[in-house]
Amino acid sequence: MRQFVAKKIEKVPPSGIRRFFDIAATMDDVISLGIGEPDFDTPPAVVSAGIRSLKDGETHYTSNSGISALRVALSNHLEGLYGVRYDPETELLVTVGVSEALYLALAATMDHGDEVIVPEPCFVSYNAEVIFAGGVPVTVCTSAENDFQVQSSQIEEVITDRTKALLLGYPNNPTGAVMSRERLLEVAHLAQEHDLLVISDEIYDRLVYGVEHTCFATLPGMRQRTILLGGFSKSYAMTGWRIGYAAAPAEILAAMRKVHQYTIMSAPTIAQYAALEAIEHGEEALQEMRARYDRRRRLIVDGLNNIGLTCFEPKGAFYAFPSIAVTGMTDEEFSERLLQEERVACVPGTAFGACGAGHVRCSYATAYDQIEQALERLARFAQRHG
Ligand SMILES: Cc1ncc(COP(=O)(O)O)c(C=O)c1O
Repeated sequence: MRQFVAKKIEKVPPSGIRRFFDIAATMDDVISLGIGEPDFDTPPAVVSAGIRSLKDGETHYTSNSGISALRVALSNHLEGLYGVRYDPETELLVTVGVSEALYLALAATMDHGDEVIVPEPCFVSYNAEVIFAGGVPVTVCTSAENDFQVQSSQIEEVITDRTKALLLGYPNNPTGAVMSRERLLEVAHLAQEHDLLVISDEIYDRLVYGVEHTCFATLPGMRQRTILLGGFSKSYAMTGWRIGYAAAPAEILAAMRKVHQYTIMSAPTIAQYAALEAIEHGEEALQEMRARYDRRRRLIVDGLNNIGLTCFEPKGAFYAFPSIAVTGMTDEEFSERLLQEERVACVPGTAFGACGAGHVRCSYATAYDQIEQALERLARFAQRHG
């Protein structure tokens, strides 16, 4: 029989995160620092809005772009936060999470063989989604010396005449890095000079600590060449509702909407009503969760550094990305042995690209006392193997 699975799909390895969850699921007394989602439940008012919409009979498809009220609210939200204006009719699209928004952005802009520059370590889906869309991911490595911010000189080095886009994900998963405005301006300058599209995944924009998030589209000349991706999963603890959005110039957004229309139709209706409640009235709940993440962040970063697992200070998202160099182990070995010996789950850095070698991702989207216990276990482990 012929080989039916496409070569481009075979080329993509399965996610390195799942394997550890599968092992951890078979064990008792595991403290998981492996989770990439909020441990908080969705705020009650948001849940109620979803239920209310069901009772009100909102059980049908919506407009392909998403319910108008949500697009208007998103437009006001972006204008209020960042001063950037998107037309709710033509420049905003409600999607099934940022995951779908990212896929649409790539499907709508990639021709076969187009290159996309992707700073690594990065969210596990980036390279895979570029390949699924027919593009070619070109990796540049960020490092702790530069606070895991990508340098424009690194990007410049890999630009070819096939380069079409940059895919930025800041605040970053897995490192927690936030790009400074100055560094972003340098990247923006390059994008202008080389006529590049910038796909900016800003799903963690509201989860920053002591610094300001710069929305890439607000930089001079960038709005017309940026696809801004945002979502509800992280900020409002809504991963299971599956709502995200894309904001982009009308021509690009129309192309994305076309792919969305033929593949998805519309994002889940009740989830859109829940998201509307979140964006209109969810600020207090968001700030409360953010404050709690910040407290845990300080605990875990100090704790890891005290143990000797050197950790640069993450200013965003909910991840710490310590170096495990002192143990002399690979990140895979470290994660596996830590799980077996101390029942703490974290994710090997290489799950986020080869540049993540020598690090592990520890999520602090878990209860404060669990982090305290995990640190005790990590200290024992590091002492044994240091
Ligand atoms: C950087 C980043 N982008 C996108 C996503 C996907 O989010 P969503 O739930 O909106 O599809 C995640 C989820 O972990 C993420 O970390």
